[in-house]
Amino acid sequence: MKIVITGGKGMLGRTLVKKLSGHEIIIADKDTLDITDSSGTDAFIKKNMPGAVIHCAAMTDVDGCEADKDGAFRINAIGSANVASSCRRYGARLIAISTDYVFDGGSTNPYNEYDVPAPKTVYGKSKYAGEEMVRNHCPNHIIARVSWLYGQGGPSFIHTMMKLADGSRPELKIVRDQIGNPTSTDAVASALLNFLEENSLCGTFHVTCEGEASWYDLAEELFALKNINQKIVGCTTEEFPRPAPRPLNSRLDKMNMRLCGLPAMPHWKDALRDFLKNEVF
Ligand SMILES: NC(=O)c1ccc[n+]([C@@H]2O[C@H](COP(=O)([O-])OP(=O)(O)OC[C@H]3O[C@@H](n4cnc5c(N)ncnc54)[C@H](OP(=O)(O)O)[C@@H]3O)[C@@H](O)[C@H]2O)c1
Repeated sequence: MKIVITGGKGMLGRTLVKKLSGHEIIIADKDTLDITDSSGTDAFIKKNMPGAVIHCAAMTDVDGCEADKDGAFRINAIGSANVASSCRRYGARLIAISTDYVFDGGSTNPYNEYDVPAPKTVYGKSKYAGEEMVRNHCPNHIIARVSWLYGQGGPSFIHTMMKLADGSRPELKIVRDQIGNPTSTDAVASALLNFLEENSLCGTFHVTCEGEASWYDLAEELFALKNINQKIVGCTTEEFPRPAPRPLNSRLDKMNMRLCGLPAMPHWKDALRDFLKNEVF
């Protein structure tokens, strides 16, 4: 199949390009396709006539979005509308990537696809607006919500931790009261293959690794797997103020994958071990 990947040079995009090598891949990123340009997006999809578009392009700097609300909505909402309406016009299936930040993180349970989003940050609000654009403009869609991503080359929490654990710091303070599902881009890419192959599937799906962890748990596992002797100390979100408030509970229940009989995702510890086998920091 001919597949366009928007944001194809980003962290998830790069993994998808590798993983989908059996398909004809067209890498689109800002230099070749600026999704905020509606006529340019239309012309790009019309020229290439892909069978599917995997839409990864986004403004992903969560704190940067707080400082540039217009920029966030221009890319994450309007950009997604442009991609979705072009997909509909030229008959491409659309797989759009979204985020756990569409939820406020206040629940004590993992969020499933039928829980009502209530984003608290500009990033979360603009991504949720992007989801709605996809739902409204392109019926043949999958919205795949992912979270706590890491992939080859980063940037990610894993890459930040590896930099910080260079032996120069007696201890690292790591947030322990935020919990989520650490997820490799490799695991997401494998799951997206199922959505490409199963045309009858449609709607919103949570696509994260199995199991849950705090950032502290993730760092502890990383340093154990890499045999790094770095002291870490748990701290609270309050001790680590950021411009955009982080959800305390980012856990996503993969209810729709379960109900549709899709293969289980790997456990986050297994996905992390696999990732570390090949990643050079
Ligand atoms: N990383 C995570 O932890 C995480 C968690 C949940 C959801 N997600 C979602 O997963 C998707 C992929 O994220 P990622 O981590 O791979 O992010 P990323 O590395 O920042 O990739 C996003 C790509 O989109 C490009 N882009 C930005 N504005 C664009 C525009 N106007 N037109 C075309 N391309 C544009 C970026 O280019 P520049 O770098 O040149 O700006 C970048 O290459 C995003 O939809 C994100 O919201 C990520």
